[in-house]
Amino acid sequence: MVIDGLKGRDFVSMADLSPGELGGLLTIATQLKCGQLTADCPRKVLGLLFRKASTRTRVSFSVAMVQLGGQVLDLNVQLTQVSRGEPIRDTARVLDRYLDALAIRTYDQGELAEFAHHANMPIINALTDLEHPCQVLADLLTVQEAFGSLEGLTLTYLGDGNNMAHSLMLGCALAGMHIRIATPPDYVPNEDIVLQARALAGDRSEVILTDDPKAAVAGAQILYTDVWASMGQESDAESRIPRFQPYQVNNALLAGCDRDAIVLHCLPAHRGEEITDDVMEGPQSRVWDQAENRMHAQKALLACLLGAI
Ligand code: CP
Ligand code: NVA
Repeated sequence: MVIDGLKGRDFVSMADLSPGELGGLLTIATQLKCGQLTADCPRKVLGLLFRKASTRTRVSFSVAMVQLGGQVLDLNVQLTQVSRGEPIRDTARVLDRYLDALAIRTYDQGELAEFAHHANMPIINALTDLEHPCQVLADLLTVQEAFGSLEGLTLTYLGDGNNMAHSLMLGCALAGMHIRIATPPDYVPNEDIVLQARALAGDRSEVILTDDPKAAVAGAQILYTDVWASMGQESDAESRIPRFQPYQVNNALLAGCDRDAIVLHCLPAHRGEEITDDVMEGPQSRVWDQAENRMHAQKALLACLLGAI
């Protein structure tokens, strides 16, 4: 399969993909996973520039690139001149002369946009405060594996209106899935992203915001949650707990979902806060498949951006 036009592109937002490109990437990921397709990126080098901690994203990108026959350079921000204030526009142009692609984890989406503006190589969003699109590629792959297709399914997200909520809204809209986001009233998602997701969804699917967790889960096929305090919000974590308690993914709320519903969490999880241990370890949890799928989905993404497929 060839996805025309993905070669050389940036992936800084879920909305960078068309519905067809998203479907194509998921098909390629499935075929790479089962060995029906192989892709090679010999001598290509992926740089990782992470300002925040990471287990899954760092390791899954590294393994994916090695399995494609390429190499990875894990740039320690503290050891680069970025930490001493070298302008992004200079760093971007220099790294562009060495690397074939760069995955960045940072706070400000604007920093990613600046890298993308000044570098010709693909710039990949490995998480910002605004979005986590690579995670959503793996999430949708996991949902597709569980249900066979995506269109018409309902995903309910409970918790904070954060980067995960944003990329899930955009991803579900592109896939023709309904999404319900249930958050405490003062933790709603970014208004611009809500509007963008609704525009992408058109009349194919719904993007619903609510503060009622029970109504939000009714009949849903996918129940999704994430930490209540994201990286960078640690000082706020304690005070958030009572506000978010009604949105905890537990057996009582899961019982309101479709009987075949699956439970997803991007991880790392705080068991006993946003998700109970028994749901996380229960028969409806798909969190380990979801984590594995980071590698397959990102392998498909890299192969397409680097022009190997
Ligand atoms: N889900 C995710 O991005 O995990 P890491 O923070 O470990 O990369
Ligand atoms: N919302 C979380 C996701 C971690 C993968 C964070 O930004 O910390």
